[in-house]
Amino acid sequence: MEIDQLTQRLLNDIEATTSLQDVEELRVAAFGKKGVLTELLKTLGSKTPEERKTLGAALNVAKEILKEALDARKVHFEDLQINQRLANETIDISLPPRPELQGKIHPLSKVMDEAMDILGKMGFSLSEGPDIEDDFHNFTALNIPPQHPARQEQDTFYLKAGDGKTPHVLRTHTSPVQIRTMIKEKPPLRIISLGRTYRSDHDATHTPMFHQIEGLVVDKHTHMGHLKGCLEEFFRFFFEDPDLKLRFRPGYFPFTEPSAEVDIWWKNSRWLEVLGCGMVHPNVLRNCNIDPEIYQGFAFGMGIERIAMLKYGIEDLRLFFDSDLRWLNHYGFDPETRE
Ligand code: DAH
Repeated sequence: MEIDQLTQRLLNDIEATTSLQDVEELRVAAFGKKGVLTELLKTLGSKTPEERKTLGAALNVAKEILKEALDARKVHFEDLQINQRLANETIDISLPPRPELQGKIHPLSKVMDEAMDILGKMGFSLSEGPDIEDDFHNFTALNIPPQHPARQEQDTFYLKAGDGKTPHVLRTHTSPVQIRTMIKEKPPLRIISLGRTYRSDHDATHTPMFHQIEGLVVDKHTHMGHLKGCLEEFFRFFFEDPDLKLRFRPGYFPFTEPSAEVDIWWKNSRWLEVLGCGMVHPNVLRNCNIDPEIYQGFAFGMGIERIAMLKYGIEDLRLFFDSDLRWLNHYGFDPETRE
């Protein structure tokens, strides 16, 4: 039959198309204003009702089949196009990031991480306190009453206070965190505190803001031997020297009795002072409602900058805070390897 042949011929043409454009041209050739099927439909009017019926039905079937074939072919070419684009436009995510955009870990952050890591493994946990302290926590509770000469030695930054009020201070050491923890928590305690501290001082070995790390252990039967063992362990790990020698000299701090200053034997040549420590003064324990007849404690505190300068051979303390990128790139640490 003529229509069947026509349909088959058009189906073959559709199959032979090589582009979306071909498909659209064929669609117009079949169904456009002057398309073959459109023309055939026009002839229906001049046919007898009988002929019209069979021809009309046959034309409708042909129309359905051809439209479906045209649509399928169109989708085929569209898919092809998309796949081609996907293949051409892939992004290589294995490319490394631009190295010049990589920052460095500041030596002070590195040293704080290292110190926390070592003391954390020894069973200490981190306690925190505010940078702006009140007189009680920074001085009085630490056995430094008003008029005590130690107050003058600390070059304290005082904040403005209302009439007759005791001014707050920028904490001059991390020791007030000991007080806060001992008041809040009951012994046994094994804590470190670390962070910013402030004193009104500025030269090659002092900056108005610096960092300290502090340790405190309170328990029954705690004694000076524990303090020595703890610090020896800490410094040997920190300076990566299992034979590092430490020397304990008598010292004075209002909040410890007895007190000691600790030196390390540096590069086989000289003693260097690195820290202050001692047994927590009974008055300090009492100020925190801890009975010194039952509990004893040891404590130590040191400057982060000082041990960072020693470990990494940094000469001038002020360089830590200059934010000079060349310096940071040289002395800083890779954020991924931490080396
Ligand atoms: N707070 C002292 C300072 O800033 C350091 C210190 C010494 C802390 C002895 C202590 C300690 O906990 O027991 O100079």
